Amino acid sequence: MGESFLDNDTWRYFWHPVCTVKELADSDKGRGELLCARLLGTELVIARLDSGVVAMNNRCPHRSAKLHLGWNRGDSVQCPYHGWQWGADGSCKGIPAAPDGPIPPNAKAISYDCAERYGLVWVRLDGSAGTSIPEHPVFDDPTFRCVPGPSYDWKTHSARRVENYTDLAHFPFVHPETLGSAGHVTFLTPQIAFRKEGRMRFRYAPPEGARNAVDASGNFSPLAFSDYTIRLPFGVTVDLTLQNGARTVLWVWATPLDDIHCRSFWFACRNGDLDGPDQPHIDQQMRILEEDVDIVESQDPEQIPHPRDEIAVAPDKVSLTYRRLLYALCKAKAQGPEALKAFLDTERDDI
Ligand code: FES
Ligand code: CO
Repeated sequence: MGESFLDNDTWRYFWHPVCTVKELADSDKGRGELLCARLLGTELVIARLDSGVVAMNNRCPHRSAKLHLGWNRGDSVQCPYHGWQWGADGSCKGIPAAPDGPIPPNAKAISYDCAERYGLVWVRLDGSAGTSIPEHPVFDDPTFRCVPGPSYDWKTHSARRVENYTDLAHFPFVHPETLGSAGHVTFLTPQIAFRKEGRMRFRYAPPEGARNAVDASGNFSPLAFSDYTIRLPFGVTVDLTLQNGARTVLWVWATPLDDIHCRSFWFACRNGDLDGPDQPHIDQQMRILEEDVDIVESQDPEQIPHPRDEIAVAPDKVSLTYRRLLYALCKAKAQGPEALKAFLDTERDDI
């Protein structure tokens, strides 16, 4: 296996969801809200302190015990081993065995940017490029109902997961009943635009003969028009317009747990069937994921290889363009956080 084609340190400059707010609340087993999460190979303790949610490196600087096994004391996370207390910014708030001090000047836990949005806890390991938490275009729109699906782990690089989500040519083979139809194996190659904040946008039109293929109950058809936005590096929004004009908006973010494992957080939003039960909408997506997982996890290597090591044809335009953008992002990152930010804010109509 060759070395990775992408520089995986690049993703440190971006916000990624690491757990749901509900998981954090459910973590309280008498020691307060705190749990262990993983991002880009770094183990984190996530806690809800009085000041809000915080993320710190899970390793206690004293003797390297794991902080998530300790206590949430409201103003600090207390280590389970000797009880040293760590505040939201990582500063040491107290050493029980040496109450009269002094606190050693290098007694600092590593803390990271942390925020709540969309019922998810987001973490950014490096804030120097000034990136923002991705938008979720309909989450706060009262005409939509958004339902979170259960997050899921796949043994693949986040970029492979995004490619799978935005690839139509696999529908007739992997999803012959849920998304594809065996007769339609070709898809129009979309125009692709690049928009601010690292958004790659394109629209898939259904093949001619399939435009009215909506099922009788009015459920969304995979063959309805669909607007895709890939938010670099690992977010996707799919805005599906049904034949009856209603919309289903799917949103997913594939968080890199490390170089070969990702956890996908997602929602299904809809502005039709508002009185109907939510579960069928989630179940349908879950069935599609079940169809995908074994194939995607079979991709070897897990990481996107050098371009010469895989073969592409013109209909792979979306994947090729996505890879080109990821690579350009890594190159910009090599020039520093300013260059990274400048790259994300470039706009181009036809890429
Ligand atoms: Fe954390 Fe000693 S290892 S207080
Ligand atoms: Co699929």
